[in-house]
Amino acid sequence: MLKPGVINRRLVGEVISRLEKKGLKLVGMKLMKISRELAEKHYAEHVGKPFYNDLVNYITSGPVLAMVWQADDCITLVRKLCGATSPAESQPGTIRGDYCSHTQHNIIHASDSDESAEREINLFFKPEELIDWHEALQEWL
Ligand code: PPS
Repeated sequence: MLKPGVINRRLVGEVISRLEKKGLKLVGMKLMKISRELAEKHYAEHVGKPFYNDLVNYITSGPVLAMVWQADDCITLVRKLCGATSPAESQPGTIRGDYCSHTQHNIIHASDSDESAEREINLFFKPEELIDWHEALQEWL
């Protein structure tokens, strides 16, 4: 998910382009203004943490771009492309390393396991909003 900062800073194309160039397959995409209720469901595991309110406030402060990408070992690949959560630790060349300077304005969320990906996809997409298209380039990726 690209958070409101990406859309405000006109970085959507740059970030998506990194995922595409890696060879990931885009199967779902939706520009949304998510409600507080949906944001709270999404971040349920962080309830009670000191940053929880900031996290929910930020993700509901403007539009987000919810996306579903497919690849072999997709979770690992995407999290590598994103880089570490803390701007002090994310390497230059990663999405967070290049575009984030404050954790509270972390520009991208990536699911951290197959289970959370499934849960999160179900929160933001209906089954018919995901497109299983023919992958003609598979042997080159
Ligand atoms: S934890 O406690 O290890 O599970 O937390 P972490 O994985 O590092 O972060 C979970 C999400 O919380 C965001 N975060 C913050 N937001 C605002 N302020 C502060 N201080 C803060 N610290 C962490 C972090 O960006 C993660 O957001 P997502 O959307 O999951 O990337």
